[in-house]
Amino acid sequence: MPVTRREALLSAGALAAAGVLPAVQAPSNKSKTASQIAEDGAEPVCLTDFEPLAKQRMSHLAWEYINGAAADETTVRWNREAYQRMRLKPRVLVDVSKLDTRVTLFGQEHAFPILLAPTAYHRLVAPDGEVATARGAGAAGATMVVSSFSTTAVEDIAGVARAPLWFQLYAQTDHSFTHDLVQRAEAAGCRALCLTVDTPVAGARNREARVKFELPPGMSLPNFKGIKEVRAGASHLPRGQDIFSSILDPELSWKDVEWLSSFAKIPLLVKGVLNPEDADRAVKAGVAGIIVSNHGGRNLDTAPATADALPPVVEKVAGRVPALVDGGIRRGTDVLKALALGARAVLIGRPYLYGLAAAGQEGVTSVVNILRREFEMAMALTGRTNLASIDRSVLWT
Ligand code: FNR
Ligand code: LAC
Repeated sequence: MPVTRREALLSAGALAAAGVLPAVQAPSNKSKTASQIAEDGAEPVCLTDFEPLAKQRMSHLAWEYINGAAADETTVRWNREAYQRMRLKPRVLVDVSKLDTRVTLFGQEHAFPILLAPTAYHRLVAPDGEVATARGAGAAGATMVVSSFSTTAVEDIAGVARAPLWFQLYAQTDHSFTHDLVQRAEAAGCRALCLTVDTPVAGARNREARVKFELPPGMSLPNFKGIKEVRAGASHLPRGQDIFSSILDPELSWKDVEWLSSFAKIPLLVKGVLNPEDADRAVKAGVAGIIVSNHGGRNLDTAPATADALPPVVEKVAGRVPALVDGGIRRGTDVLKALALGARAVLIGRPYLYGLAAAGQEGVTSVVNILRREFEMAMALTGRTNLASIDRSVLWT
């Protein structure tokens, strides 16, 4: 059901109460308002407002890990600049009193085209970690992509989820372990599998190196329980002086994509594609979708902004499978621009981690609700009433 103009101005909570969102997506009654989140009076009204609050409330180590990127942090900057550079071309005098932001991905309807990207180690910033994230995402009606490196087992996250979950896979050199992990994610009810393909090794994480990043005592990776050769405290960082991590597979190749698609019961996406040739090969290997991503600028510095990489990928894929995109999405207008460039949906990473750090599950809900409302405003102000009407013509070329 499309939303009316008045409903579009209300929060997702009011939308749920009005029956616009399915009941399963109704927010918790305990949801804090934005002003309760900021006890010091600095009320977060946009995504970047959560950053200083989050920074205050997390350890220096966690901040350097989350906020940091690779090497000179050029790509992470380009991700933002690419959206800021693009200008919008509005149409006026369009009746925008009914906005329909729904999108169907792999048979699953999403009320709006914004998902939570997989990010590792949520207990670094909130005591109940991914459980709080899943609750916050559920209250906002957003799909969370659970990281292989979650500090809570995928089954325990699924136990509290009220919106669909997807699972992000860091394939392991131990194939039988990878096979079992995929089956665990499926058994837990995850609706899609995102194989991360841009991280055979982590990039030059200088800020992590300076703070000597390691998982604090008491934190572990329960999805990897039982895996051979994984020492306690294993992380994405290299073992010793070499560049390889014990829990990233540097041998991962196209034959593994084919192997995974041969037994995965849920749609398989590849996450971390920038090159159109790779996108074409992925489609030929049988993937159900592509996530255009440079890992938030955390791996290969000076790879292009995802907003710049997206159009050639979309052109090459030519509608055979949907392309999603992440990296640098901070404003509703960024969501609109990504869709205009051909993305079917977007994912956000750091912003919801800042929400989680600032205010736990309510912070995650608030980040999604703010971005969703901004996206609705961007649609209304450009005269676009549904996602199909968001195309290149909304960009000022
Ligand atoms: C990530 N990202 C990531 N990706 C992935 O496939 N598996 C993972 O475990 C993680 N972990 C992770 C941790 C942190 C702290 C960040 C910031 C990012 C990458 C993530 O999925 C996504 O591609 C980017 O975060 C998108 O960029 P923005 O929204 O952070 O600019
Ligand atoms: C990161 C890994 C864990 O970006 O994906 O930190």
